[in-house]
Amino acid sequence: MAFTIAIDGPAAAGKGTVARQLAAHFGFAHLDTGLLYRATGRRMLAGMDAVEAARTLQPSDLKAGDLRTPEVGQAASRVAAIPEVRQALIDFQRAFASRAGGAVLDGRDIGTVICPDADVKLYVTASDDVRAARRLTELTATGHDVTYNDVLADLRLRDARDSARTAAPLKPASDAVLLDTSTLTIAQALAAAIAEVERAQQS
Ligand code: DC
Repeated sequence: MAFTIAIDGPAAAGKGTVARQLAAHFGFAHLDTGLLYRATGRRMLAGMDAVEAARTLQPSDLKAGDLRTPEVGQAASRVAAIPEVRQALIDFQRAFASRAGGAVLDGRDIGTVICPDADVKLYVTASDDVRAARRLTELTATGHDVTYNDVLADLRLRDARDSARTAAPLKPASDAVLLDTSTLTIAQALAAAIAEVERAQQS
């Protein structure tokens, strides 16, 4: 039976971690939809037209090693504002969401556009400071030479662009449960998310 969990939120709020661990807890499949936009942005940086890049995206494109860099993140945010790019990626995401056995998707527009009828919708946020500190730790651990201020500026620029665009802007669905992870450990955030899913399963 299909059971869909939609998780949205700004960059580095912890939604990827919550989504991955929630999927593991319930034995559901997980799709990080940001990777679709990152892979499209990466192909654009390599010289391809963005719409063509989205329309011809291959599973192997999602495995490129450098998808997590700040440059590719910015390119992803830019291509994500193009309606034809978003349109090209909808069917794949919806098919994934409705697969038997349950699915967790995380992104920016999952609860609002991709899966408006999701069984559970979470909007995961954290303060700018906490998000920048977490992303800095991640990036320095993977060998990137960046400062706290670089990371903070990068997140703010992406969030502003992702929220201001007219095509599927970043915003909480009206029926999403807000989860602010600023002062939560990963275990606490996961426990809160699990409680929401269990509540929905019982209703
Ligand atoms: O989740 P992420 O940081 O990997 O996403 C990279 C960019 O992709 C983000 O800045 C905006 C875009 N994106 C989007 O527009 N819609 C989604 N569902 C997921 C990501």
